[in-house]
Amino acid sequence: MIVKQYVKEFEKLGFGMFVHFGIYSQLANGEWVQSLHGIPAEEYQKLKDTFCPDVNWAKDLAKTAKQAGCKYINITTRHHDGFSLFDTCGLSSYDAPHSACGRDLIREFVDACHAEGVIPFFYHTLMDWYHPDYEGNFPKYLQYLRASVEILCKNYGKIGGIWFDGMWHKPDADWEEDALYATIRRYQPEAMIINNTGLSAHGALGHPELDSVTFERGKPQPLNMEGAPKYVASEMCEVTCDHWGYAREDLNFKGAGQLIRELADCRRYRSNMLMNVGLQADGSISLMDRAIFDVLGRWVSCFDEALHEPEPTDIPIADKPDDFILRKGNHYYLFCYHLPMSADPNVALHSDAQYSSAFSLPGKLLSACWLDNGAEVSFRQEGEKVVLQTVPYTYGRSLVVRVAKLVTEA
Ligand code: GLC
Repeated sequence: MIVKQYVKEFEKLGFGMFVHFGIYSQLANGEWVQSLHGIPAEEYQKLKDTFCPDVNWAKDLAKTAKQAGCKYINITTRHHDGFSLFDTCGLSSYDAPHSACGRDLIREFVDACHAEGVIPFFYHTLMDWYHPDYEGNFPKYLQYLRASVEILCKNYGKIGGIWFDGMWHKPDADWEEDALYATIRRYQPEAMIINNTGLSAHGALGHPELDSVTFERGKPQPLNMEGAPKYVASEMCEVTCDHWGYAREDLNFKGAGQLIRELADCRRYRSNMLMNVGLQADGSISLMDRAIFDVLGRWVSCFDEALHEPEPTDIPIADKPDDFILRKGNHYYLFCYHLPMSADPNVALHSDAQYSSAFSLPGKLLSACWLDNGAEVSFRQEGEKVVLQTVPYTYGRSLVVRVAKLVTEA
């Protein structure tokens, strides 16, 4: 099986930010608003005449991603409505340089990513509600699609990858995938090529040129790569609420604790988590999304060492189905999900203060400590078996999933 180095590097990124932004952001009703609210095309397209993100939108975005510990940002360069945030160089006038702002927003995005040291990725829609050839002359539409992708691959320097979405809309059409992916390879031989299989086909392998499977809003699973021509990575994209594009009246926010567990779950199977923000019309991040990224970032900063290099193991842990161990050489990282809290029973919800963990490691255990504060974790070795006796949280902190670092004899 072929294993590409850039695919292995992608797996190490661990945590990325997904960004949905477009002229639809002005309506604050999600990115499907044109289609789902039946807005006539001429009326919808006028939104470009008022689209004018703040000049610092991209800098703020990249800085927020960096502070949250995200190693990459994947932005919607063109979404289903067909409007492009990039300069289409004459392919269409339905793009940011022809909108009220008159700027190439993808140029601003890429510059901001470079300034912060995060890797830019480009989402590009396959389904298109704007271009007449999408329904009228599909082979011609595919030429337009490839020409658009070529611009993205040629004009913005080295990118992390291209992320397609919408093939599910015409599953039986010939998308000329060979030619599409060859367009990318011509300019970006080491870009990840991803094609989102959507909500109904979690983890499905596709064309052999694809570098990662997707688990849209799903729990990543180990991949069965038997017979596959090459090794592929996996990625799970997730929303903070129920929408990808900003929706003012969506109040259904997930708890940061749940999202932390999901990020840890992703690492169990070496999947990356791509956490979404739907930008507001001026390109700013809403208060709730900002707060969620702030909390996720604080967790990532505690456990960063365990989130990139260490690889999955199948070391079983007695009676703790959620917990798991990652490994890098003779360093093992134990992810503990349900640490209790020790406190007066009148203040803490669960004050059962016992928590122990039993498993076997290949070598003799030399030391164990919490990664977030270096505090020692007591353990005893019973033959091959290690029993850790962990101290619960004391009232005052609760880290959702806490990671202990275990060092064995080399
Ligand atoms: C779905 C939606 C799309 C969104 C994407 C994100 O495909 O159609 O609006 O961008 O999921 O993964």
